[in-house]
Amino acid sequence: MTSFKNIGIMTSGGDSPGMNAAIRAIVRSAIHRNITPFGIMRGYQGMIDGEIKELKTTDVSNIIHRGGTILKTARSKEFMSDEGMKTAYDQLKKLGIEALVLIGGDGTFRGAVEFFKQYQIPAIGLPGTIDNDLNGTDFTIGFDTAVNTAVWAIDKIRDTADAHDRLFLIEVMGRDAGYIALYSGIGCGAEHIFIPEKKESLQKILDDIKDDHRRKKMTNIIVVAEGDEFGGANELSLIIKNEIPSIETRVSILGHIQRGGAPSCNDRLLSSRLGHAAVEALIAGRTQEMIGIANNEIVYTPFENCVKLRKPFPDDILEIAEVLTK
Ligand code: F6P
Repeated sequence: MTSFKNIGIMTSGGDSPGMNAAIRAIVRSAIHRNITPFGIMRGYQGMIDGEIKELKTTDVSNIIHRGGTILKTARSKEFMSDEGMKTAYDQLKKLGIEALVLIGGDGTFRGAVEFFKQYQIPAIGLPGTIDNDLNGTDFTIGFDTAVNTAVWAIDKIRDTADAHDRLFLIEVMGRDAGYIALYSGIGCGAEHIFIPEKKESLQKILDDIKDDHRRKKMTNIIVVAEGDEFGGANELSLIIKNEIPSIETRVSILGHIQRGGAPSCNDRLLSSRLGHAAVEALIAGRTQEMIGIANNEIVYTPFENCVKLRKPFPDDILEIAEVLTK
C-alpha cells in the first residue's frame, strides 16, 4: 500500500468521448480515499506551464454526459526535451503532486515512460482514443461512441444513396487503425470495408461493383478508413470513376464529428470502471502501467508494451465482415 496526498490528472493527445466521465471517476475515487486530486490543463504543455488546479467533487458535477475534456488537451513537443521535463517536474513538486493519472494514447504513454526514467513519478494510464488501437484493452474510451456516431451518419447517407442509386464512399477516422471502419462497416451493412490492416485486391472490388451494377443493385456503401492503402475515400473514388465511368459516385468524409458528442453509456461505464481502478492501482503501489478491460476484467499492461506492441487485430470479426459484405 502506498499513501499519496496529492495526485495529478491529465488528458493528452486526441480527445475522445468519455474522457470527462473518466476525470469524474478519478476525482471522486481519489477523494473517497482521502487523496487530493489536481487537474492539469492541456496535457504535458499545461504541466510545463503550471496550469494546474485542485479539483473538488463539485468541479466534476454535470460532466459525465459531455464530450471533449474539461481539462483540455494538447500535443507538446517541449515536454520531450530535458528542459521541458525538468520544468514540468518542478511544477508538480511545487504543488506536492506525487503521482499521475494520464488519459490518452500512445504519445501520452511514450511521454510517461521518458518522464519516469528521469524523475520516477508513479503514473497510471487510461486508454483514451477513438481509434481503439491500444494494446492492453478490448476497448478504448471513446471508441464505442465514435462507432455509433459513424453508423448514425451512414444510415442517413444510405437513404439518399438509395434514392439516387449512387455509390457512396464514406471515410471514417483511423489514421493507422481500421477498427472504426470495421465495426461501423459491419454495423451499417456496408458492401465493402477498406482498412489499413488488410490489403485488398482492387481488381476484385472493381469486378464486384461492376457485377452489382449489372444486377441493378445500385446502392453501394463503401466504408474507408482514412489510413487505408489507397489514401482515403477521395482517392478510391477517383480510381473507381476512372475504371467504371457509368457509376455515379459521391464521397462523404465524416471527420471530427466522430470525436465529439455525448459518450455512449458503454463509454461512460468503461471510463468509470477504469478511473476508479486507476486510483486503486496507485494505492496498491502499481506504476507505469495502463489499465484496461479484457474479457470484462481489469488488466494492467506496462506502458512500454502499449507503445511497442501492436494490438492483435480481431481476425474473427474481419472474417464476419467478409461474409456479410458479399
Ligand atoms: O487518434 C485519433 C484520431 O482521431 C485519428 O483517427 C485521426 O487520424 C487523428 O486523431 C486526427 O487528429 P487531429 O485531430 O489532430 O487532426
